[in-house]
Amino acid sequence: MYVCICNAITEDDVHGCLSRGGCGTAKEVKAACGFKPGCGSCTKRLHAMVSEYRTAGELADALTGGPVPLAAVPDAAPAAAPVTGPVAGPAAEAAAEAAA
Ligand code: FES
Repeated sequence: MYVCICNAITEDDVHGCLSRGGCGTAKEVKAACGFKPGCGSCTKRLHAMVSEYRTAGELADALTGGPVPLAAVPDAAPAAAPVTGPVAGPAAEAAAEAAA
């Protein structure tokens, strides 16, 4: 689906810019995706997408105890060492307390 009709920029384009890690703001996404000044009706949707992406990242960090390395993504480079125990974070702390 198009986010910006004036520049023919799709949701996939925006998600690609966000997931590559170089963009953290709507302004950076606009620069990376090639948004040029137009009617401006896409601005609200673009800001919402950036906000949703940040919220999802913060939630993932909270659940895992930190940023998820790219090695955790299938087909990415292999991790340095496999995770054999519980991942650090609130869930691991709760499991340790329950075991004690
Ligand atoms: S829809 Fe993006 S500038 Fe018009």
